[in-house]
Amino acid sequence: MKYLTIALAKGRLAELAIDMFIDMGLDCSEMKQKTRKLIFTDEKNAVKFILVKASDVPTYVEYGAADIGIVGKDTLLEEGRNLYEMINLGFGKCKMAVCGKANMRTKMFGVNNLKVASKYPHIAESFFRDEKGQTIEIIKLNGSVELAPLVGLADVIVDIVESGKTLEENGLEVLYDICPLSAWFVVNRVSMKMYTERIMSIVEGIRERIGNG
Ligand code: PRP
Repeated sequence: MKYLTIALAKGRLAELAIDMFIDMGLDCSEMKQKTRKLIFTDEKNAVKFILVKASDVPTYVEYGAADIGIVGKDTLLEEGRNLYEMINLGFGKCKMAVCGKANMRTKMFGVNNLKVASKYPHIAESFFRDEKGQTIEIIKLNGSVELAPLVGLADVIVDIVESGKTLEENGLEVLYDICPLSAWFVVNRVSMKMYTERIMSIVEGIRERIGNG
């Protein structure tokens, strides 16, 4: 039988996904041990799990190197890959928001070429352009984005807010909610046609657990 390959976004989402798959009877308990292995095999169910950097999960799934992916909606929106977004898993809940110093709340939508720092340049650009009709200057960063408005690199940031602690501890606020985020189960379009039955049985198992029609 062909192995179905499931790509998990390394980090917290992978941990939550592993617990979900173990609960469904798949054998991926070895992944809970802290090793540097990247591929794990459940021989009995003919499933392989691969650990991938979050932003690469949609790439693996679009090209068919993975049949299935578990990845955040933020990454899906940013990467814009051609794949089938099948189930909102409901875990890893957070939101995408425009954040900054409180005094930017009323000012920001009026500023020409507003300087916006983000790890998500596509999401940031399309929000300001499509929803607000505003041109912005994007400053692409790779982490600690909250620093940018504090040191004068940007007027505001577009970033993930989960507990809100990072903002609070750095004197910043949510200025505008862009969209809610959570983990999604995504499928390669060809795999969906070729292995419909097996993929649907995994989907049913997930739906039973998350109670999501
Ligand atoms: C993410 C995000 C925020 C923070 C939000 O960063 O970019 O900085 O978590 O979480 P909170 O609202 O619970 O504080 P991450 O931890 O991935 O680190 P990074 O800044 O290095 O990307």
